[in-house]
Amino acid sequence: MDGEGNKKPWDASQLRKYDLTFDEIPRLHYKDPKIDEYIRANKPVVIIESNIIKPALQRWTLEYLEKNLGQTGHTCFVSKNHQFKYYDDKKIYDKTNNTKGVEFTPPTKKVEMRIEDFMKRVKEWKKGDDRIYLQQSLTTSVGNNIVEDFVKFDWDYVNGKQAKHNWGPLTSNLLFIAMEGNQTPCHYDEQENFFAQVQGYKRCILFPPSQFECLYPYPVHHPHDRQSMVDFEHPDNAKFPKFKDAKGCEAIVGPGDVLYIPIYWWHHIESLMRGGPTTTVNFWYKGGPSTLEYPLKDHQKVAISRNVEKMLLEVLQDPKEVGPLLSAMVLGRYTE
Ligand code: FUM
Ligand code: FE
Repeated sequence: MDGEGNKKPWDASQLRKYDLTFDEIPRLHYKDPKIDEYIRANKPVVIIESNIIKPALQRWTLEYLEKNLGQTGHTCFVSKNHQFKYYDDKKIYDKTNNTKGVEFTPPTKKVEMRIEDFMKRVKEWKKGDDRIYLQQSLTTSVGNNIVEDFVKFDWDYVNGKQAKHNWGPLTSNLLFIAMEGNQTPCHYDEQENFFAQVQGYKRCILFPPSQFECLYPYPVHHPHDRQSMVDFEHPDNAKFPKFKDAKGCEAIVGPGDVLYIPIYWWHHIESLMRGGPTTTVNFWYKGGPSTLEYPLKDHQKVAISRNVEKMLLEVLQDPKEVGPLLSAMVLGRYTE
């Protein structure tokens, strides 16, 4: 509680416990010019009281989404636990077609599901059942009412930010409908993101690209590329000793809040426990043209190291040879 009359609609018992502490991401009114300073500096900020997704805030209850999302199948993930760690199917080794890659058992199952079936599973879920998470791109296959609402989003505002900050085109809008307690473990995306909360509360823990060393991303060729190898709930301090030094920040976003997640920033996102289902729409934009001005920005260094890894894999052909070559190049030569 911040003070009388300012009671939060959630409490600390709804948050998972982590060994790290986090700074708070600032919350700024959508007309505040300081928002642009944050975006320009590649720093996260929560934009409040905007009309960006107003029609969704007014209408997108679960009942409305069930009626209007459309009759085609929607992309959902099913997990045995609360974690929904993303993986890239294209990087999975497949003996049958001889693709190069890593042998890998996906931690979640991707299924196409009708919205009624999804909602039924959410409503009837009980402890011990598999969990489910809808992650569906908003395309023209959604119903007409949703398209009409979508058209009435405050595109002037978001496109204004895109133009002002020289971002590339909007690539997609993804709709997320999560069960309470669902978690998207820590990862980074190679796009700018306006993360707009429609319903329920999500805790968003962010780390700047400079924290690369503390977060131990999987190798680039791995299906979990861009994901942290550290399980925040059970960090293996022997394997990932720098994790305890990771410096991050957090925001708990609720209906109407829009979190700016800068390109290459790590984010770990979870729907609050016992808070009911949550709905989010995100706006992904390609990054702006990269000008190599020195000193390089931290996210540019991440992009460069990704390219080095990719290039080594391309010439060595075998993912197992990348690590030993990198070690031979670095150990005792670039290390003390
Ligand atoms: O679960 C989530 O809302 C994840 C969003 C994201 O990774 O952008
Ligand atoms: Fe993401």
